Amino acid sequence: MTQHTDKPIIIAIDGHSSCGKSTMAKALAKRLDYTYVDTGAMYRAVTLYALRQGYIAADAIDETSLQNDIDRVSVDFGEDGKVRLNGESVESEIRGMEVSSSVSRISALPFVRRHLVACQRKMGERKRLVMDGRDIGTVVFPNAELKIFVTADAEVRAQRRYDELTAKGEPCVYEEVLANVKERDYLDEHRADSPLHVAEDAIVLDNSHLTIRQQNNRLMSLYRACQNRL
Ligand code: DC
Repeated sequence: MTQHTDKPIIIAIDGHSSCGKSTMAKALAKRLDYTYVDTGAMYRAVTLYALRQGYIAADAIDETSLQNDIDRVSVDFGEDGKVRLNGESVESEIRGMEVSSSVSRISALPFVRRHLVACQRKMGERKRLVMDGRDIGTVVFPNAELKIFVTADAEVRAQRRYDELTAKGEPCVYEEVLANVKERDYLDEHRADSPLHVAEDAIVLDNSHLTIRQQNNRLMSLYRACQNRL
């Protein structure tokens, strides 16, 4: 639990896809009574907007139209913590295959990133925030008091994703899931604007061989160490 002497801080959690970042960030926020923001959901919401407007075709994106609209695309979170697109809760739509397969292209557009980074910085004005994504410690909050970079071996992440999909009754092939994990790593690490990389002052947390409980304990000790430093 936090103590009343604790300083309000920003906790930036970045890392590879499918390594349980969101689950751990959410649990940490709950434990600290902080606000949790999933920035991947924000990029997914803009992707849903572009799909609904018909701006995304198989081989091209109508960037001009999306750029003209972008200031009218509002992405925020409701009281239930679910992401909203212009006031409408879109949590389930953004997790579907259509959005998932276009979101890398939309999140690579610099004007989309500028728009969402400005929203994200506003959310951090009062601190007491756990935000997860790919560029939180490097671009959004370079001065965040605590930065954590989460990763796990690609094979471990693919196995977790495979188990998740199979449990949901979605048929899949392990080798394909692994190829997809590796492809997403490559896209995240090689895009021109805000590529995924470890911030100089981030602590790397490899959870390949950690249980959820061990991971949560490690996070809390990192939080305590950070408070002691402040
Ligand atoms: O974490 P996720 O899979 O929901 O993220 C969806 C996409 O958004 C993924 O392609 C990476 C991208 N993203 C990003 O570019 N910057 C962020 N801060 C968060 C996500």
